[in-house]
Amino acid sequence: FDSQAFQRDLIEWYQQIKRELPWRENQDPYRVWVSEIMLQQTRVDTVIPYFNQFMARYPTVQDLSEAAEQDVLKSWEGLGYYSRARNLHTAVKEVVANYDGKIPSEKKELKKLKGVGPYTQGAILSIAFDQPEPAVDGNVMRVMSRVLHIDADIAKAKTKSLFEDVVSEVISTEDPSSFNQGLMELGALICNPTNPKCEECPVQKHCMAYELGIQTELPVKTKN
Ligand code: ADE
Repeated sequence: FDSQAFQRDLIEWYQQIKRELPWRENQDPYRVWVSEIMLQQTRVDTVIPYFNQFMARYPTVQDLSEAAEQDVLKSWEGLGYYSRARNLHTAVKEVVANYDGKIPSEKKELKKLKGVGPYTQGAILSIAFDQPEPAVDGNVMRVMSRVLHIDADIAKAKTKSLFEDVVSEVISTEDPSSFNQGLMELGALICNPTNPKCEECPVQKHCMAYELGIQTELPVKTKN
């Protein structure tokens, strides 16, 4: 497996097809953070208007930290999974209290923030701070299980950390943001669960599952 060629093909494709989304306007870590929290359980098209309204109402960490929880929850109405909003609000207050309102760029500090798990850490570190850290969600596990023919059971909690190790090995150090977002886009647009569009795939020549004709048998998942 030629990870440099894989990186190049993935990033080049991502640069060509990437959508102009409001959280891609700049690398403000606060915008990256809020968008990644919203995107964890909600589709891009649904998130866009919520994200724009949220940023208009709470443009900075400071603004959000000073808001009343009821108002924050009100802004979240319709997105669901309200613990995301409560945790974000708590975490932003921690950033003001402990980091002078500046979102930390170190993994061991980010980890301490309420609601910031491995995925969100990796997304913030790679997209906002250009650090080669994995951001593994279900899409990324599906893509990488196929590309590298990994048959670990994604229903098992440990498997996610295996994929984090795998992505750490193959991630681009030059453009980790485009690499991670490219994997996410590939999972969303091409490498679908049941009907992957392998003929259109920019990394088809790197894909072990495609070569074996077993792309729809991966990832392995024993329960829901
Ligand atoms: N899903 C999760 N993170 C995303 C991002 N940064 N862009 C588009 N979709 C996403």
